[in-house]
Amino acid sequence: MNRPSDRTPAVVVMSDLAALGRQHRLITDIAERGLVPLVIVGPVTDLARLQTHIDDPDHPLSRIAAVRQLPGPAIDGLLASVRDWLDDYDVRGVICSGEVFVDPAAFLCEALGLPGTGTWAGRVCRDKVMQRVVLREYGPASRAFAPQNRESAAAEVYPSVVKPAGRMFSSGVVRVDDDEELRAALTQYEPDETILVEELVVGPEFSVEALVHNGELLWSGVTAKLTNEGDSRFFTEIGHTSPAKLPAAHTEALVEANAAILKALRFGSGITHAEFRLQQDGRPVLMEIAARLPGDAITMLWHLATGKPIEPAIVDLALGVRPDYPVPTRRAVQRFVEHSPGRLTDVRYEGQPVSWIVDDGFWPSVEAVDATAPARCASVMVSLPRGASLGQLHDSSGRSAYVVVDLPWEADPDSEVLAYADKVELAIEV
Ligand SMILES: Nc1ncnc2c1ncn2[C@@H]1O[C@H](COP(=O)(O)OP(=O)(O)OP(=O)(O)O)[C@@H](O)[C@H]1O
Ligand SMILES: [Mg+2]
Repeated sequence: MNRPSDRTPAVVVMSDLAALGRQHRLITDIAERGLVPLVIVGPVTDLARLQTHIDDPDHPLSRIAAVRQLPGPAIDGLLASVRDWLDDYDVRGVICSGEVFVDPAAFLCEALGLPGTGTWAGRVCRDKVMQRVVLREYGPASRAFAPQNRESAAAEVYPSVVKPAGRMFSSGVVRVDDDEELRAALTQYEPDETILVEELVVGPEFSVEALVHNGELLWSGVTAKLTNEGDSRFFTEIGHTSPAKLPAAHTEALVEANAAILKALRFGSGITHAEFRLQQDGRPVLMEIAARLPGDAITMLWHLATGKPIEPAIVDLALGVRPDYPVPTRRAVQRFVEHSPGRLTDVRYEGQPVSWIVDDGFWPSVEAVDATAPARCASVMVSLPRGASLGQLHDSSGRSAYVVVDLPWEADPDSEVLAYADKVELAIEV
């Protein structure tokens, strides 16, 4: 084994192609600090495709020095895979940028004595059943049914929500209004999935993003979340606004509930993304908490709202450096457009390029504008490849095009974003 001083300093990023393409500033920021970006991806990543991006000198992911692919999140598999890296490099930080690797990333941090979520927090955050038990004070009434007890699954009240314990993208999360709908929903899950049946919490939904350094909560931001629950039985995310335009007391209640949860989890260092519904009585009820970067365009929204990208703060936290992240001075909104069934052949937006992020393998880099600048469309993106078939939204994977808009503080985000979303033209073949 080389002496530490002989080894090249490096940071390990555990992710997948989609999240790397979104969070490429993590890679460039690590490289610009003179550290080597080493990447672990999971089974959903098309490795050949990722390699094409790495080999393209103009691609932001070209700074990745080495990639390993793992078949799943098993900790022993991860350790076996990175064993030689630990000899060849001086690994100074580990960052998890996707849900799958939260648990093994937490373990790797602890094994190397590096800042991280902590193994307890990482484990609990990855599992909805554990969250309902450990964080029961903060969540809805909920019962879990192991696979062998699925026949006895029942709801105490209707409407309820049925969901699988370990998935993501709102996949398999459905509202049921009676026994018959509950039984029908249960047939949709894999035989080995544990199922949660929960009280339907009513009220608008928010996420709270937080930056935590050695257990100290440094920064919190509240994002309003919009889903398609108003006209379906599903809960697919169709919009986000950062920061949410809310009375100060509501923002405070959300930030406080989140702070109490982070404390209960003994959360160490990193970014978290928790989802809450705010009941009419003003009480935030926890939907779930994730010990990783938020999804969709939320990091881009915070960049546009505060004027500063958040990825460097995440690299700081991984390296044990206390970051300084500003408060927002503008509001930024992501809004998906509605689509009709058919085949998506083109997306147009007058006066603005459209980014096909699956085809490009990276998200466009946006620049923040002055706090007082007028409202503008910062970006138009498509999250499906050309030719994808469009249908009803059951989960996040079916969503098509969206706008990212940023506005002065006083503007009304909900009404103003619609003017931009309406300008998106989808070409659909039926
Ligand atoms: N008990 C509940 N009451 C009301 N709404 C709920 C409840 N449970 C889940 N939902 C809704 O379903 C959404 C998805 O649920 P959850 O976050 O548990 O699944 P997920 O697959 O991790 O989703 P995502 O990856 O999109 O965050 C929640 O954000 C919320 O809108
Ligand atoms: Mg969720």
